[in-house]
Amino acid sequence: MTEDIVWHHHKVSRAERASSKKQKPCLLWFTGLSGSGKSTVANALDVALFERGYHTFLLDGDNVRHGLCKDLGFSDKDREENIRRIGEVSKLFTDAGLIVISAFISPFNADRRMVRKLFPAGEFIEVFMDTPIQACEQRDPKGLYEKARRGDIKNFTGIDSPYEAPERPEVRIDSSTSSVEQCVDALIAYLVHRELIS
Ligand code: ADX
Repeated sequence: MTEDIVWHHHKVSRAERASSKKQKPCLLWFTGLSGSGKSTVANALDVALFERGYHTFLLDGDNVRHGLCKDLGFSDKDREENIRRIGEVSKLFTDAGLIVISAFISPFNADRRMVRKLFPAGEFIEVFMDTPIQACEQRDPKGLYEKARRGDIKNFTGIDSPYEAPERPEVRIDSSTSSVEQCVDALIAYLVHRELIS
């Protein structure tokens, strides 16, 4: 970072942007294997919050990799950069007063910790989609596990690239034993309990 770039303080504060939306911004960070249900549950939660009148925004791995991160692949370094960018974008959206929902494999503890550190205590909510790999592989919604087993895709998470499970996620969900509705209910209950929504 160059010392010639000086932080410019905005006249409208973060708190004012949030209060004009009558909500408390936060980031729900979904992490888990491909096929663990991140996008499905994140989308359903987005709908549930939107219907309750909250201002939300959803960031999803597959979509972001078509635009902001289309120059990145799946090496450890590229995944780190992917998560760094998403973390910064999520932070900007919460600064704008939004409730942000992000769904990325984000396989490395250090990268998720880096994002957590961008946020005030309590605003980063790690949601671990703790669905067993057997269930993810059986679903194989995009046929990617099959390709990875054949060796047609390299560095596939859970096959030949590691997934480091979160040690203390705020919420843990197994989408092989809970319905999408039950997952969303658990998340809404968590947000109510933490007084982030009412
Ligand atoms: S992350 O590791 O950098 O967080 P991200 O969530 O953005 O990954 O992208 C994961 C999506 O990319 C998967 O859902 C899958 O559809 C696709 N994908 C393609 N190649 C790979 C790979 N080698 N490992 C994991 N996912 C892959």
